[in-house]
Amino acid sequence: MSGKQFDVIVIGGGPGGYIAAIRAAQLGFATACIDEWKNDKGGPAPGGTCTNVGCIPSKALLQSSEHFEHAGHAFADHGIGLSDLRIDIAKMLGRKDGVVKQNNDGILYLFKKNKVSFFHGRGSFAKAGESGYEIHVSAPTEATIFAKHVIVATGSNARALPGAPFDEESVLSNDGALRMPAVPKKLGLIGAGVIGLEMGSVWRRLGADVTVLEALPDFLGAVDQQIAKEAKKAFDKQGLKIELGVKIGEVKAGKKGVAVAYTDAKGGEQKLEVDKLIVSIGRVPNTVGLNAEAVGLKLDERGAIVVDGDCRTNLPNVWAVGDVVRGPMLAHKAEEEGVAVAERIAGQHGHVNFNTIPWVIYTSPEIAWVGQTEQQLKAAGRAYKAGSFPFMANGRARALGDTTGMVKFLADAKTDEILGVHIVGPMASELIAEAVVAMEFRASAEDIARICHAHPSLSEATKEAALAVDKRTLNF
Ligand code: FAD
Ligand code: NAI
Repeated sequence: MSGKQFDVIVIGGGPGGYIAAIRAAQLGFATACIDEWKNDKGGPAPGGTCTNVGCIPSKALLQSSEHFEHAGHAFADHGIGLSDLRIDIAKMLGRKDGVVKQNNDGILYLFKKNKVSFFHGRGSFAKAGESGYEIHVSAPTEATIFAKHVIVATGSNARALPGAPFDEESVLSNDGALRMPAVPKKLGLIGAGVIGLEMGSVWRRLGADVTVLEALPDFLGAVDQQIAKEAKKAFDKQGLKIELGVKIGEVKAGKKGVAVAYTDAKGGEQKLEVDKLIVSIGRVPNTVGLNAEAVGLKLDERGAIVVDGDCRTNLPNVWAVGDVVRGPMLAHKAEEEGVAVAERIAGQHGHVNFNTIPWVIYTSPEIAWVGQTEQQLKAAGRAYKAGSFPFMANGRARALGDTTGMVKFLADAKTDEILGVHIVGPMASELIAEAVVAMEFRASAEDIARICHAHPSLSEATKEAALAVDKRTLNF
């Protein structure tokens, strides 16, 4: 046997993989992490989809475009006048790339700090032996390394529409959507899910005429429908055109743009002609290049690695986490699984509570939730109480000039245990953390209602929504 022996090899350096590697190293294991992502100079760019073409760059563009929209629309209300308002797209994209690079470099620094050996290249299974697994690393680094434990965290790729492959020129995945060199006059998006709404918002704020075509009849079907309706009202007002219940037909991409034939909800034949089309219809698990067959690693019909509740695969000491396995495709879910697996390898009781994984959609208003929706509770026949509080009645929201939306609590009818919290409105992404903590500690709505919240703050709306469960709001 030649090549370095490790205790743990992690394949994939996205949030699932790099966090698993750091935690394994913290626990005293000799750990390697292999990641193949390249930056534009061909160098390593760890951080996966999240850092390179996902969470981080999308939030950078959401921030830039929100500043632009505020400067154009909201500043005047504050008595701030601007003339000659312009957007320099190249500069905005450059800033976004800078933020991405800071994160790539930060992960390389963390690997050094924690003594994780980083290999830049593709990792694939070669064979399983008595002392563990042989892993090949190829292009740009060539190496053969060994470990008793392997954690697979190879993530996911954008799903293409049949007959309309991504060319990243006119038919764009999330990758192309994050680096359009100019604002398209007309932009189409297929899929009104998380990416459709976030990317649609970015380019609408910058001046594109945006139409989103969604197959399902309900807007954001997985979201509490009261919250989804409130969000839809806000998006309609902003001019984000969302058509529900459509059936996409032929997509023709040419030099001048893209034509999308579709049937609308009433059965009418329609055509959408746009300069650019973003396809955001979900993502598929990525095991390309892993050579799973060499060791008999089991995949399901969607191509996801089959794991149990603890991220164990069908092979001894091979684990898989993040987007490449079942469950929500979220960076923080991937991270939690990575930590839990490293701790299980160390004989500890790593744990992920799937009931308290928060979701956030970073539109304006932001949408965030944790736990069950009202429609899920009804379907399960669970007796519940609901309470909500509008930001319109919150002093801080008025001062901010952002009073759209509400906080909504759902609690068990008998025990008052919080079953779900749903927010649409300003800073929902931050406010949801309190609800996650409360649910993790199995708090009651009354617990939140009795906690002192700073005044004036948006979090007072959370307290008031908890009071509303017992029908005793103080400010509404
Ligand atoms: P990934 O991040 O996909 O990382 C996998 C890594 O493995 C990649 O670097 C890949 O190159 C590498 N790899 C694959 N195969 C091999 C191999 N054989 N050898 C070596 N390396 C390999 N989630 C959130 O929670 N919040 C958000 O705001 C958010 N925004 C998003 C916005 C967009 C536009 C997109 C597309 C996604 C967003 N997500 C968000 C989802 C989030 O990015 C993913 O859930 C998360 O990145 C999954 O982490 P992962 O580690 O499982 O996989
Ligand atoms: P998504 O699952 O959020 O939404 C896809 C949408 O496309 C759905 O509404 C679906 O009904 C629709 N759709 C599917 N096929 C269609 C078709 N043929 N025609 C029309 N509509 C169709 O997937 P999305 O937006 O691609 O994002 C992928 C994943 O990335 C998300 O599920 C999420 O896990 C993650 N993500 C998370 C973010 C966050 O946490 N803020 C931001 C962006 C992505």
